[in-house]
Amino acid sequence: MTELTTGHEPPLLDLHPPQGDFLADALAGLGKNPKAISPMYFYDRIGSELFDQICTLAEYYPTRTEEWILQTHGRDIAEGLGPSASLIELGSGSSRKSGLLLRAATTLHSYVPIDIARTHVQRAASLIAARFGRLRVLPVCADFTGELKLPRATLDARSKHVWFPGSTIGNFGPAARARLLATIRRLCLPQGGGVVVGVDLRKDHARLERAYNDERGVTAAFNLNLLQRMNRELGSDFDLAQFRHHAFYNTAEHRIEMHLESLSSQTVRIGDHSFEFDSGETICTEYSYKFTVESFVEEAAPQGFTYAHHWTDPEELFAVIALRADPALD
Ligand code: AVJ
Repeated sequence: MTELTTGHEPPLLDLHPPQGDFLADALAGLGKNPKAISPMYFYDRIGSELFDQICTLAEYYPTRTEEWILQTHGRDIAEGLGPSASLIELGSGSSRKSGLLLRAATTLHSYVPIDIARTHVQRAASLIAARFGRLRVLPVCADFTGELKLPRATLDARSKHVWFPGSTIGNFGPAARARLLATIRRLCLPQGGGVVVGVDLRKDHARLERAYNDERGVTAAFNLNLLQRMNRELGSDFDLAQFRHHAFYNTAEHRIEMHLESLSSQTVRIGDHSFEFDSGETICTEYSYKFTVESFVEEAAPQGFTYAHHWTDPEELFAVIALRADPALD
């Protein structure tokens, strides 16, 4: 991989997040009833490539719809940040979507990409710094679900806004979302500011289910890669032919659920540990919650946020919602 050198590497604030322990988490998750493994383990190299492919599928509308919203309403969204704001991105990864917002936000105080992957966040920060010459880029290596601190320089910003795109928030259940919103609010203080969050909207169930059951089977491969990853990295003996991808909309909970379903009664080994599967038993691998603008605004209110604005596409498939964190509500 060749690095684009800028002659100026943005300084990294490294909070030394504990890296996930795949073996311990897999053993614990498979030992639970019902069995479950965190979706964060989808994203090894192969899984990340498969996810990039998902984003280009005809059935998978969220990515391109959010990009359309940012392209169309970027100016408006940026204006809502006000002058000299610090824009803090949670789980910035490669900062791929950030360019769409950053190029519209011409009066930012700073851009603070936060990611648990140290090399990703550093590389992304360099690329962004090279592309937006005047922008102060202040990368942070941290787990945004854990302890968070911001670079000291953000104290000089007029306001602080957290940017949380991609409907990543949909991977979190109600309690975890409440904790996350509380964290976000703390990040916005003392100046105040807000959150700009991308959420997938509730819609026709067939349309939702198609997005997670694409014709070409890319989502199935993405889900099943988790078993292959365990075989590769943990030495487990999952027989890929004995599991199938299963995704459906849980109406009562307003979420897509992704599972890996055992096609027979079988035993799987990881080292000295063995796990029994009944035929039809599943490992839950992902929840992807769907919202209405109202449902999201309502659940954020107890965390001290008030509605500012939202932007959506003509079909109302996806929304970018801006909420204000008012310091006076403390
Ligand atoms: C990255 C969590 C937004 O929930 O739609 C895509 C992940 N899983 N297809 C989503 C995903 C299956 C995606 N998020």
